Amino acid sequence: MSLIRLDKYLADMQVGTRSEVKKMIRAGKVQVNGHSCQNPDEKFDPDQTEVLVDHVKVGYAAYEYFMLNKPKGCVSATEDHRYPTVLDYITDHKRKDLFPVGRLDLDTEGLLLITNDGELAHDLLSPSKHIPKTYEAMIDGIVTEDDVALFAQGMDIGEKKLTKPAKLVILKSNVISHVQITICEGKFHQIKRMFDVVHKPVLELKRLSMGSLTLDESLSPGEYRALTKEEISYLRQRG
Ligand code: URA
Repeated sequence: MSLIRLDKYLADMQVGTRSEVKKMIRAGKVQVNGHSCQNPDEKFDPDQTEVLVDHVKVGYAAYEYFMLNKPKGCVSATEDHRYPTVLDYITDHKRKDLFPVGRLDLDTEGLLLITNDGELAHDLLSPSKHIPKTYEAMIDGIVTEDDVALFAQGMDIGEKKLTKPAKLVILKSNVISHVQITICEGKFHQIKRMFDVVHKPVLELKRLSMGSLTLDESLSPGEYRALTKEEISYLRQRG
């Protein structure tokens, strides 16, 4: 890992603002690898360094990764003045630069990755990577094999191009139908707009997976957990 300044290390870990931690360092409250360090500019490899503030260890996390089962009624943003944000649910974290990877609608539930890893987020969201996203939905209307064929062909939802082929699986076809749908792009309200084309409104929408990452079904809406090392490495390798 690259070297970082002591004041940045402590500010990143939310020990205080940059100027507060500088004061703490100059006041001799900080020890690095067993020695007092009063120079905020001094650089360290965070992987090889033990930092204590007032004798309490402050570990460093360059990146954090969480899977949230997003509940309805919160927005996929870092701040909002009307609704709670998805970040409000991540109560135990070190980094303050977390953000949601992509967006789910206010009334959509399910898998949302929250991280501060911009490169991974960029890869997962890049249209050229065609990362598949699978959703489960309740549909107002009888979903038919004709719909399955249409979704597979690509549809005109008012964008310049047709949608990319989507895989629609009918789990139950009735007045209210239950389906699974996989799309490889992420246009605004895409699934709702696709069902609008066949005049069958989406009543409930829940994301089950994104690329290699699958929602942990033990998480109730509003609950989250850190990703495992395997989940992080699969995401990095294959999206
Ligand atoms: N498609 C939608 O219409 N809404 C979502 O939240 C996600 C995909």
